[in-house]
Amino acid sequence: MNPKTFKIKSFGCQMNVYDGERMAELLGDQGMVAAADGADADLVVLNTCHIREKAAEKAYSDVGRLRREDGSKPLIALAGCVAQAEGAEARRRSPMIDMVVGPQSYHRLPEMVREAALGGRPVDTDMPAISKFDALPARRRASPSAFLTVQEGCDKFCTYCVVPYTRGAEVSRPWKDVVAEAQALVEGGAREIVLLGQNVNAWEHDGRGLAELIRALAGIDGLERIRYTTSHPTDMSDALIAAHGEVDKLMPYLHLPVQSGSDRILKAMNRSHTTQTYLATIEKMRSAQPNIALSGDFIVGFPGETEEDFEATLQIVDAVRYAAAYSFKYSARPGTPAAVMEGQIPREIMDERLRRLQDRIGQHQLAFNRSKVGADTQILVERKGRRAGQMIGRSPWLQSVHVETGAKPGDLIDVTLVAAGPNSMTGAVRERAAA
Ligand code: 5AD
Ligand code: SF4
Repeated sequence: MNPKTFKIKSFGCQMNVYDGERMAELLGDQGMVAAADGADADLVVLNTCHIREKAAEKAYSDVGRLRREDGSKPLIALAGCVAQAEGAEARRRSPMIDMVVGPQSYHRLPEMVREAALGGRPVDTDMPAISKFDALPARRRASPSAFLTVQEGCDKFCTYCVVPYTRGAEVSRPWKDVVAEAQALVEGGAREIVLLGQNVNAWEHDGRGLAELIRALAGIDGLERIRYTTSHPTDMSDALIAAHGEVDKLMPYLHLPVQSGSDRILKAMNRSHTTQTYLATIEKMRSAQPNIALSGDFIVGFPGETEEDFEATLQIVDAVRYAAAYSFKYSARPGTPAAVMEGQIPREIMDERLRRLQDRIGQHQLAFNRSKVGADTQILVERKGRRAGQMIGRSPWLQSVHVETGAKPGDLIDVTLVAAGPNSMTGAVRERAAA
């Protein structure tokens, strides 16, 4: 019997969140409806992430937990990057999995569901030349802040990373498709668009780059804010930096992962930048947009990382004064060059370095938040807060701001930031002066 209800569980990055939304739209077009509770859905899609530790094991145990008390189970689709990495092997390892669908083939989900409902066990992890985007339905509804994937895949081959294998080579979506999707999202209620790509700043179409795309999107009426993530330091063009100083709708926030503060480690990671070129880019960005908030990613315990290398990482954190940053313990990914490098670091050392790094990042984050107390700014209201009458929105610097207001999600309101915490801010509504 064909399933009537579905539940999509997305793990990992924002790109998976976007993919999850698109799969929901596809299934909705087939007349299926989202189940209120995952436990009783006829179809469950596990949209998995493969970037770190034991991803596959976690996915299989998540699958196992979908068996219900009466012994029955929903139709199960393994999707996302674990599906891509495991392929047909997934069907062998877990008899509960009915479908395996990679990130480049999920436009085929409806037909795979029909096949599975008839007892088939389809697998599709192809990376077809025809873009899946062309096969997806048009967008209709959007949250106040909506994701829009403009670029996928990666050609950089950092030695620790699985992305070039799971998401394939760098591909940019065509200019007119991106603009049309952005327009549809704004018509569907989006006030902010977050352009997504593994290397979003490598986006390029017909000789035009991300800076030109952003300038064009800024012309869409009703669209108030533009962000993009994740950028690679080597693809940070002067044009994009200049756009930060000139395009008002482009938010003063840049996520620019450096991974390590040690040039020796950056080389072993096959990052194509050094600490010096990275800091020079940050410098240029700060001259173009002094108001910019910077964020980054770090890996501690890459093979061969000495205490001295690690201290260089703490130093770059101090030099940049990040407003936010994400840090991870190195995790050996099968099939990547770093997994077989000498000098793998013991877990206790990684734990200790991660703690020290996160402490340091936390100090800068709090200092950044405190530096914004007293600022008159705007927030985009996104959702209800925990207390009655309280709403949560985002500042231009991507801080979560709690505020007492009758405003609704999607409203852009004037606030003064009145208090700072380590992870969020408090705002007070500012009445506009009578004209
Ligand atoms: N181990 C730990 N962290 C990783 N990342 C990517 N691959 C690994 C790995 N093998 C981190 C990087 C990247 C972020 C998305 O995940 O910091 O920027
Ligand atoms: Fe992975 Fe490096 Fe590509 Fe980022 S740039 S997705 S870390 S290979």
